[in-house]
Amino acid sequence: MFIVMEGIDGAGKSTQAKMLADWFESRGYEVVLTKEPTDTAFGKLIRRLVLTGGKEGIIDGARISHEAEALLFAADRAEHVKKLIGPSLRDGKVVISDRYFYSSLAYQWARGLDLEWLVDLNRFAIRPDLVILLDLPVKESMKRINGRSIKSEFDKIAELQRKVRENYLKLAEMFPEMRIVNAQNTVEDIHRDIVGLVEQELLE
Ligand code: TYD
Repeated sequence: MFIVMEGIDGAGKSTQAKMLADWFESRGYEVVLTKEPTDTAFGKLIRRLVLTGGKEGIIDGARISHEAEALLFAADRAEHVKKLIGPSLRDGKVVISDRYFYSSLAYQWARGLDLEWLVDLNRFAIRPDLVILLDLPVKESMKRINGRSIKSEFDKIAELQRKVRENYLKLAEMFPEMRIVNAQNTVEDIHRDIVGLVEQELLE
């Protein structure tokens, strides 16, 4: 089983990914909890070259072209799929990834790149069984990430996040594996909604 968490920065993906991993483990499943950008050399390169503008990264502080940025995320992903996701799925493990190619579609599309090109570029990526889109208004997410980011960039970040959120909602109409979860609820309620979806879509 391959499950992905997506959403704008501050939506609560990593918290929910961890809670879902624990939930599977307590039921006897072997779980691989992973993320993108990864912690490999490629992920580090991305953090160095792309995410230089602060925690919420890719405002326009990026020192490289948007195309190069998209290719770096795809290269990181190719390694991720080949070395970790694919082998883990073949071993019968549950793989949960905090971000995947939908992030590239939502963010790099928001940067002005062509959606079809991005979809083609990521065609190598194994399709997940379920993608949870944690959706919340940008105003809420900005409250959560406020402490994490640089004040002077607040408006730029908010504007990007708004575009990214819109893109995610459009993607949810294009990819049937995507399910929207309201991320404005409490952490426990969101977890319950996600478990409900997993049971309904994957375990029944
Ligand atoms: P994030 O999940 O915040 O990673 P970390 O918490 O480890 O720093 O991701 C970093 C940023 O990268 C985030 O703003 C989304 C962006 N991103 C893309 O633009 N494209 C992608 O393909 C991925 C995976 C992430």
